[in-house]
Amino acid sequence: MMTENKKTKALIIGCGKMGGSLLKSMADSGLYNIYVVDTDESRRKYASRCGAEVFSKLEGAPSADIYILAVKPQEIDAVLKKIKSSVLKGRLLISIAAGISIEHIKSYIDSMPVVRAMPNTPLAVGEGMTALCVSDAEPPEAAEEALHLFSLSGAAEIINENIIDAVTAVSGSGPAYFILLAGEMKKFLSEKGMDEAQASSFAARTVLGSGKLMADSEQSFEQLIKNVVSPGGTTEAALNHIEKKGLKKIFYKAMEKALKRARELSKEEGQ
Ligand SMILES: NC(=O)c1ccc[n+]([C@@H]2O[C@H](COP(=O)([O-])OP(=O)(O)OC[C@H]3O[C@@H](n4cnc5c(N)ncnc54)[C@H](OP(=O)(O)O)[C@@H]3O)[C@@H](O)[C@H]2O)c1
Repeated sequence: MMTENKKTKALIIGCGKMGGSLLKSMADSGLYNIYVVDTDESRRKYASRCGAEVFSKLEGAPSADIYILAVKPQEIDAVLKKIKSSVLKGRLLISIAAGISIEHIKSYIDSMPVVRAMPNTPLAVGEGMTALCVSDAEPPEAAEEALHLFSLSGAAEIINENIIDAVTAVSGSGPAYFILLAGEMKKFLSEKGMDEAQASSFAARTVLGSGKLMADSEQSFEQLIKNVVSPGGTTEAALNHIEKKGLKKIFYKAMEKALKRARELSKEEGQ
């Protein structure tokens, strides 16, 4: 059995939606002693309930093995300056801030390896998809440790940092696309007479099951679509309309827009 002092010390800075989800999965794993810094009292209360030791300022927090930066991108520079001036040193610093490059973080912190992560909100239910960027200069243990940490709340893959804006447009923003579609399914069922709760369940479980099929089945996405369609049937009628109205093109273009915005934000945030 792992003793208290064998646990990895992790300091999460910013315990909002994403930091809070990471905290939960890390706490559930029992592998970490977790410290949390958050300026918001309600978030500190949440972190305490998860078993973390909480601080309102970085200045009072202990040093750790792993630092996780989970504040908004516009707060990152102030936090990096504080880490630098406190001469905090660990074996890994992970940033989940959108648009903040490894090079930018390294311009403040050269005392530990840096991993840049792009998680998504399904992290909150253990079904996240996280992209991890690690520069070649870092020891392989840095990537392994980050992979392990994010695997506690879903799947994680190493990617090249030069594709992270495209990944942001897909897995980062993607939950909103599918929830939007599910919202229309729910509305449709409600308007046809189903009660709200049941309509939510049908919509959500249709998206959930489709995602699981795509993730777990060995069949191609095209084949998984064919499995639903029969000639002259209901699905074919719907898909023909989608094709005729150009929805696929609209959707592809929407991701191009998200990619363009991610690039603009990266420039604004100091990539
Ligand atoms: N949401 C997503 O889908 C998503 C996906 C991928 C990556 N991200 C990235 O994840 C990061 C966090 O996003 P989020 O949605 O979790 O934000 P959030 O819910 O606003 O959480 C940030 C938390 O940090 C606190 N905070 C602000 N300044 C601080 C400081 N100097 N020291 C300590 N705590 C501080 C905030 O408190 P106050 O409320 O008082 O400011 C808040 O509780 C962002 O950088 C974002 O780019 C988000």
